[in-house]
Amino acid sequence: IVPILLILVVSLSQAGEIVCRQRGDPENPQLFKDGNIILGGIFSFHSSWKDRQETYTHKPLPLECTSLNFREFQFAQVMRFAIEEINNRTDLLPGISLGYELYDTCGSVARSVKVALALANGNEAVTAPSEAPCTRPAQVQAVMGETSSSICMGIATVIGPFHIPLISHFATCACLSDKTKYPSFLRTVPSDYYQSRALAQIVKHFGWTWVGAIRSNNDYGNNGMAIFIETAQQLGICLEYSVSFFRTDPPNRIQKIIDIIKLSTSKVIVAFMPFPDMDVLIHQLSLNNLTGYQWVGTEGWIIDSQIAEMDKHHILNGAIGLAIPKAHVSGIREFIINVKPLSSMGNNMFTEFWEALFNCNFNQSNSSAENHKECTGHEDVSGLQHSFTDMSLMPIFNNLYKGVYAVAHALHSILGCNETCNYKMTLDPFTILQHIKKINFKTKEGDEVYFNENGDPPAKYEIINWQPTENGVVDFVTVGLYDASLPADKQLSLQNKSLVWAQNSKQVPVSVCSEKCPPGTRKVLQKGKPVCCYDCIRCAEGEISNITDSTTCVRCQPEFWSNDRRDTCVKKEAEFLSFEEIMGELLTAASLFGTCMTAVVAFIFYRYRKTPIVRANNSELSFLLLFSLTLCFLCSLTFIGRPSEWSCMLRHTAFGITFVLCISCVLGKTMVVLMAFRASLPGSNVMKWFGPTQQRLSVLAFTLIQVVICILWLTISPPFPFRNLKELKDKIILECALGSTVGFWAVLGYIGLLASFCFILAFLARKLPDNFNEAKFITFSMLIFCAVWITFIPAYVSSPGKFSVAVEIFAILASSFGLLICIFIPKCYIILLKPEKNTKKNMMGKGAQKTI
Ligand SMILES: *[C@@H]1O[C@H](CO)[C@@H](O)[C@H](O)[C@H]1NC(C)=O
Ligand SMILES: *[C@@H]1O[C@H](CO)[C@@H](O)[C@H](O)[C@H]1NC(C)=O
Ligand SMILES: *[C@@H]1O[C@H](CO)[C@@H](O)[C@H](O)[C@H]1NC(C)=O
Ligand SMILES: *[C@@H]1O[C@H](CO)[C@@H](O)[C@H](O)[C@H]1NC(C)=O
Ligand SMILES: *[C@@H]1O[C@H](CO)[C@@H](O)[C@H](O)[C@H]1NC(C)=O
Ligand SMILES: *[C@@H]1O[C@H](CO)[C@@H](O)[C@H](O)[C@H]1NC(C)=O
Ligand SMILES: *[C@@H]1O[C@H](CO)[C@@H](O)[C@H](O)[C@H]1NC(C)=O
Repeated sequence: IVPILLILVVSLSQAGEIVCRQRGDPENPQLFKDGNIILGGIFSFHSSWKDRQETYTHKPLPLECTSLNFREFQFAQVMRFAIEEINNRTDLLPGISLGYELYDTCGSVARSVKVALALANGNEAVTAPSEAPCTRPAQVQAVMGETSSSICMGIATVIGPFHIPLISHFATCACLSDKTKYPSFLRTVPSDYYQSRALAQIVKHFGWTWVGAIRSNNDYGNNGMAIFIETAQQLGICLEYSVSFFRTDPPNRIQKIIDIIKLSTSKVIVAFMPFPDMDVLIHQLSLNNLTGYQWVGTEGWIIDSQIAEMDKHHILNGAIGLAIPKAHVSGIREFIINVKPLSSMGNNMFTEFWEALFNCNFNQSNSSAENHKECTGHEDVSGLQHSFTDMSLMPIFNNLYKGVYAVAHALHSILGCNETCNYKMTLDPFTILQHIKKINFKTKEGDEVYFNENGDPPAKYEIINWQPTENGVVDFVTVGLYDASLPADKQLSLQNKSLVWAQNSKQVPVSVCSEKCPPGTRKVLQKGKPVCCYDCIRCAEGEISNITDSTTCVRCQPEFWSNDRRDTCVKKEAEFLSFEEIMGELLTAASLFGTCMTAVVAFIFYRYRKTPIVRANNSELSFLLLFSLTLCFLCSLTFIGRPSEWSCMLRHTAFGITFVLCISCVLGKTMVVLMAFRASLPGSNVMKWFGPTQQRLSVLAFTLIQVVICILWLTISPPFPFRNLKELKDKIILECALGSTVGFWAVLGYIGLLASFCFILAFLARKLPDNFNEAKFITFSMLIFCAVWITFIPAYVSSPGKFSVAVEIFAILASSFGLLICIFIPKCYIILLKPEKNTKKNMMGKGAQKTI
């Protein structure tokens, strides 16, 4: 440790012999005034410079600056005004005079760094050895400027480590809020962090989701546009293109941008650029006559009357954008145009300025341009129509004015000024910076001035609309406000004023990639395109979307179905076989017709009950059969109509029982025929075994079995009404669920069993010789019966909804008619039309004889 300390001490003791020498050529301020305390000012009196091809074989010559910028002269004048006003005041810094040194940067970052160092160091070439240490207090206590963000970044980087405050009136880049990089940077203009967001909100507000973007290729444009794009994406805005250029770019680059605009489909262009770049752009746009676009602008050009003047083709008419709120500082206009005092300030700056302002020459003799008139030096500035006398940048003047006052107020409090100030105090930029950051005062116009922790003022903007007036001059109309300090939904407030849009239209222009998707459709993104470009696809059946621009279609509830327009779910129609519809009516009619027919047959049989044909045919079973047929016809009615708990239970059981009753009667009859034949054989008394009692009992027994099956079915798992949502997409089928399939098939199976049994017996008996052999008819009727029910099964299984019910009814009716017609009609025919055959003799007839 000791040797290191020793070395330190040695090196410190040598410090006195170090000679501090300025590197490079000394820089002289363009304008200066002496005072107790000096403020620096950095402005780009020239906005461009001649591009020299450096050979790197010799020291580069100083920049040759071009394009005088009268606005920056205005800014310089405003700074001089504020300083003079403070010096005139007795309540602020009494007895202390402020001075200034104003330098020109020519818009070059390199040059601005150089002049910033000149401001900090002073211009003495050499500090003599042993006289004073190299570390000296800074020459200026604070620096005002610059206009451009890029240049401010350069300056702030250089003077930041020395804590010399830099207060900008117009450098809005959000990047400058980074206090780790730019610790001594403050500004009186809001950060673009807010402006970019506000612009995106405005674009969103007017429904423009498909926009183009042009920015200037510097920190202002690039950073501002980056935040805009980020916010725009969050708000669902898409950029068709985003291009950049800088004012010094070759013309073909701007031409390329214009070609891109011409090819684009978006109608809104967001231009994030300061006025020198906009100036170049509008010139090119005018040459190309590029009208019909809605421009959205930043505070950099939106209230610039010079841009409006340049816009001969009214390309920018209807432009909308953000501006620093309008302000007024009394006395400033008179001070600015009073430029005569500048002439006494030394260098040739004033000459150049005056010559450019009045387009004249002082030394006509050796001037290259002949047509210039000679300057008298007494020209009248106040009567001049020129950007120098135009006060449209008053809000920016106000920012600069507030900046100078902020420094003055900070100095006032540091120096403990009361009646007088503490002159002895050595000023230290760090203390000044701390005081400026904490400042809070009101200007004479009532503006409150303070800085937040990032050195930014509160963000407030006016929304400006370019409205043409009768005489062709554009009026910058304030149509709304944006205040970032308010809650998100209240920040943007548009006043109830009529806006003018591109090409003097009253209609808000439309700039979208795809039209909104109406309800009933959904968005489908186009492949490889931004999210704002999409197709509208109609929702599928059973799905709806009831909002515009829906991304999905929602499936309807099971009991609902989409309407034709796919924008609401409608209740599905209930479907069942009703008495109202034609099919139901026909089946009802058929059923009633069958019932009547049975009744007529029964009546005929009753009427002729004494005749042999009725007696021979076992009249008791015949009447029972007719009765059961009536029930069969009627039970088909239970299948028609809205299914209820009762009708469901009734349907299959009534059908099962009546049919079994019916078939068992027929079976009884068949047996009787068979028995009767056996009985006619000699020595047989079979008839004794199958007399009327046995017949009744067997019918009862067969029927009872079915009744038991039905009771079991109904008790264990009865049929119930069921809403079938699956079978048909757009309808609910009201049907009777079987409850137990086993029950259903047991009922049917039992009928089938009896029917087959009956068929076999009848088939065996069909050839028995009897003059009036019923067996033939029974066989035939059973054939029909079985055919009907065998075809029923596949038809029943495959018919959807109410048709399966209709098929079942049809089967019931068909088989009932089959039985009725085959068994009874031939007899009725004989009874009514061939009474001569209806004799006992004929009954016993040949057949009997033959058999015997
Ligand atoms: C400052 O005071 C002088 C002398 O009274 C006056 O001429 C000048 O206009 C004042 N300046 C300002 C900016 O008020
Ligand atoms: C520019 O457009 C306007 C109207 O759109 C037209 O009147 C004018 O002639 C055009 N000028 C040129 C140079 O194309
Ligand atoms: C004009 O030129 C003369 C010499 O030719 C010189 O003395 C004078 O200062 C010049 N005036 C200006 C305004 O530059
Ligand atoms: C005009 O002439 C003077 C002396 O003759 C010279 O110093 C000056 O540079 C000349 N000015 C121009 C613009 O040529
Ligand atoms: C300022 O003046 C007032 C009275 O005029 C006095 O009371 C006060 O102490 C003074 N303050 C300073 C810092 O001199
Ligand atoms: C806005 O202005 C229109 C007519 O210019 C008027 O009808 C309407 O009531 C106004 N709305 C509000 C909120 O002031
Ligand atoms: C859209 O449908 C949903 C669900 O179906 C419903 O809650 C909502 O109220 C509907 N909105 C409109 C505007 O009809």
